[in-house]
Amino acid sequence: MSIEYIKEKKVFILNTKKSSYQIKVDETGALRHLYYGRPVGSSDMDYRYKKTDRGFSGNPYEQAADRGCSFDTMPLEYSGFGVGDYRVSPLKVRLKNGSRSVDPRYVSHKMYKGKYILEGLPYVRENDSKAESLEVRLKDETAGLSFILSYGVFEEFNVITRTVKIVNDSDENVELEKASSMCIDMPFGNYDLIHFSGRHCMERRPERDILSQETITLSSKRGMSSHHSNPFVILCDRNANEDNGDCYGFMLMYSGNHKEEIEKDQTGSVRVIMGINDEGFSWKLEKGETFQTPETILTYSYEGFNELSHTFHKTIRKNVCDKKYIDMVRPVLINSWEAAYFDFDEEKIYGLAESAKELGVEMFVLDDGWFGKRNNDSCGLGDWFVNEDKLKGGLKKLVDRINTLGLKFGIWIEPEMISEDSDLYRAHPDWALTDPDRKPMVARDQLVIDMSRQDVRDYLFESISGLLNKANIEYIKWDFNRSVSNFYSKLLPPDRQGEVAHRFVLGTYELLDRLEKAFPKVMIEGCAGGGGRFDAGMLFYCPQIWCSDNTDPIARLSIQKGTSYGYPVSSMGSHVSVSPNHQTNRSTPFNTRGLVAMSGTFGYELDPGKLSEEEKKAIGKQIRDFHKYYELIQKGDYYRISEESFSNHYFAWEFVSEDKSEALMNIAAVNVEVNSAFPFIKFRGLKEDSFYRVEELGLKLTGGALMYGGLSLDILRGDYPALQLYIKEDK
Ligand code: DGJ
Repeated sequence: MSIEYIKEKKVFILNTKKSSYQIKVDETGALRHLYYGRPVGSSDMDYRYKKTDRGFSGNPYEQAADRGCSFDTMPLEYSGFGVGDYRVSPLKVRLKNGSRSVDPRYVSHKMYKGKYILEGLPYVRENDSKAESLEVRLKDETAGLSFILSYGVFEEFNVITRTVKIVNDSDENVELEKASSMCIDMPFGNYDLIHFSGRHCMERRPERDILSQETITLSSKRGMSSHHSNPFVILCDRNANEDNGDCYGFMLMYSGNHKEEIEKDQTGSVRVIMGINDEGFSWKLEKGETFQTPETILTYSYEGFNELSHTFHKTIRKNVCDKKYIDMVRPVLINSWEAAYFDFDEEKIYGLAESAKELGVEMFVLDDGWFGKRNNDSCGLGDWFVNEDKLKGGLKKLVDRINTLGLKFGIWIEPEMISEDSDLYRAHPDWALTDPDRKPMVARDQLVIDMSRQDVRDYLFESISGLLNKANIEYIKWDFNRSVSNFYSKLLPPDRQGEVAHRFVLGTYELLDRLEKAFPKVMIEGCAGGGGRFDAGMLFYCPQIWCSDNTDPIARLSIQKGTSYGYPVSSMGSHVSVSPNHQTNRSTPFNTRGLVAMSGTFGYELDPGKLSEEEKKAIGKQIRDFHKYYELIQKGDYYRISEESFSNHYFAWEFVSEDKSEALMNIAAVNVEVNSAFPFIKFRGLKEDSFYRVEELGLKLTGGALMYGGLSLDILRGDYPALQLYIKEDK
């Protein structure tokens, strides 16, 4: 049983293979968080919490005699507001009478086999794994609001999911001003916080902060999860590292405005809150209506960050992405963007495809510039019909020709945007998100289309379906190239404008879902100026996401490493581009570019016709290697290797097969030294006593030798060299 209820103690225990999670209904009826960590069996973990009368931490009215009983010091599972807990709250409401207070207390619960699902929002699917669910109903009788806290427990995966549904059981309308998905209070400890921040072309750079008595807020209000702050954090022990130590991962499955608040309080306990960003948010909840918050994914590891990442990787690959992608071998693609930008016609595109095919590429993707009057990035968005001046004879003719070469065909679109200079905008200026009487912010000369509107979504569905029905298109690159602003929908009344940002995201999810149902064979790759919407919400609809607009392999080393903390390589769009690189102007060897791109979905972003014979040959080998190592790379356990001795000079990462019989070590040097020290690279995850053959070096060593002795790295010379070492068990 993954979920147990100890009735006499009112304790719920959520068990996974490597963790226990405990909550308890206490004497006030509040739901307390008792424990999250290594398995503790069925002990009621309440014994750890001493009741202490702390000054300025008051008591609930019925418990006035018990001065140690305070919402301000209790570890709570979903705290209220305005009733004595002074820590950051997951909730803000405005009742009809103006009161802001809300005080959720236990009413009932139910437990069942299987995983709950969410309507209209992404969630962790049950697929082939076994899950159980718990629903705890809390209610504020005075406000007439109920809070249904749902938990999904994936025992094998060490994963717990959480979400909250708010129900207006009162006779009045209620205004929600904050509705977070999760609140958890971790007990006293020396915690560090790791978050994944960045910017366009430099996404998800891990930052580690020591927590002091303060609140750290991470957020996005860009209408997307953003390049700047990923909705994923790790709370860990001060000493935790890649291979050792306690750490907790919290990931929000949401692609819009989000907020993570991490507060260390007066007792040294740490509260983590995650959910929709309340800045600018409000939701009118009419009598009888419900509001569903997005889901969060939680996992705990006592074996450091690598283990934590393995859990997220497996969960996302097998239970967040659609089941059909678990085993589907993704095609090696070539994308036209960096090869042609907007400057192409049918013959140029066909030429690119033809030369790519000769080198072993499997799919051609026509990027931006094929539609409307789009000869540059200032026009055409919304006009999703082919530009016949460029592609004479239309899309079908081109797709048929490319298919005849033996290549699949994919196409770029940016549905959530609209150019002022487009037929669509001229016909429907009210479809853009703009405030009344105010000029909107423009970015890349484009406006954002109002995805909260059904008529807009219908138009997009019809026009995208038209494309997909007309030609044999098997892949879509779904882009999103600006931050959203002017969240104002012409169809909603003034008192509902605070709903636009969330309705926008729901609208995008609905359109993605509708397209996926109508065209189940078309794979969608997400993109937002690279990795601006790289989150588990989008991965529910798109099994891969273009990781960054920065295609420089050396920059990609840190972007992909940062991304790997939460997301699997099977989700990271990554291509080989030309050297010098278009973004950084840095020159790098072809081999290094291939090796970095191969730790992703793999493809090319260049004109093969302009390559040397040697480079063309290298492509053939890279594609063969990609296929040879496909299972290992895409499904193996991914280890970030971070030895103290070399971390300033090398990036290293390893893939180990599930049965530990083979592994692939990847090493890229970013700073080659002369007469350097003698660092050793140590493998992870092997069988200690088994022998492995290191083909490349002509060695046969035990797993123990490779893991604890390591291999000398005195072999890399030149500009940004890289090396792949494949090892196989040899009995
Ligand atoms: C941003 C993407 O990340 C690029 O790869 C490319 O598709 C451009 N948009 C096209 O406008």
